[in-house]
Amino acid sequence: MSDILTHLDAGVMTITFNRLDKKNAITAAMYGVMADAVEQARSDTAVRVVVIQGHESIFSAGNDIADFLNNPPTTTEAHVFRFLRSMAALEKPLIAAVAGPAVGIGTTLLFHCDLVYAGDNAAFSMPFVNLGLCPEAASSLLAPRLFGYHRAAEALLLGEPFYAEAAQEVGLVNRVVPPTEVNAMAQTQARKLAAKPLASLIETKRLMKSGQAAQVLAQMDLEAASFGHMLNEPAAKEAFGAFVQKRKPDFSKL
Ligand code: COA
Repeated sequence: MSDILTHLDAGVMTITFNRLDKKNAITAAMYGVMADAVEQARSDTAVRVVVIQGHESIFSAGNDIADFLNNPPTTTEAHVFRFLRSMAALEKPLIAAVAGPAVGIGTTLLFHCDLVYAGDNAAFSMPFVNLGLCPEAASSLLAPRLFGYHRAAEALLLGEPFYAEAAQEVGLVNRVVPPTEVNAMAQTQARKLAAKPLASLIETKRLMKSGQAAQVLAQMDLEAASFGHMLNEPAAKEAFGAFVQKRKPDFSKL
């Protein structure tokens, strides 16, 4: 079975992380499939709304760290950056259903969703610094804007998890429900949107985002350049090596 499932029903395209044995960690190939799906959703008139979801126990463990070592995203054309740009550019409504851990890009992709529903077991984290890296998905711009600088600094510099209630408080999450209900909740809301006039949805979303669309893409490019460079630096090598060897990283000399 594929690591990414896509399904179209009643105008709703649902993209599902389906790699439970690796906690839905995302490889370059998976980013490629998701970027293609979102790009298809953009042009396909049968798609009115897109939902991205995981499993009730895990949304995503973020980038697959082993795959990072084999397929480092060192240029802006890497699948991961293509996926992020496709999400930022999607004019149609985008909904996320998050239960369990949402690590790294599992959290930052939510900045590009219009509605986010979370299970009460959701744990959001952006541990880029802990991996010797820097933020992506324009999260260095959008997290301070949404959370306020100090709360964003806590999330991005310390990289510790924050939970469903706190995520709702800072405005990252619309509603918290039991984990077994989160995917169904997203589908209910998606179907409501799919029944509305698409041109009005698109225009409303475009107007809400018009002040920041170009800035978001520019920030993504800045981040991608730093990220690609930092992947080859000693801190990231130490962090990835430690993860693969299941030990704590030692940054004391870095
Ligand atoms: N990349 C590659 N493999 C990953 C992974 C990742 N990001 N996250 C989990 N896995 C793998 C583990 O190596 C393990 O594989 P194994 O069974 O072959 O040893 C398997 O998935 C299960 O992971 P485990 O850590 O045992 O699950 P858990 O339920 O105890 O914890 C997480 C879940 C998500 C909290 C934890 O796996 C984690 O923190 N992962 C790393 C997250 C991360 O740093 N991502 C990068 C962000 S940029």
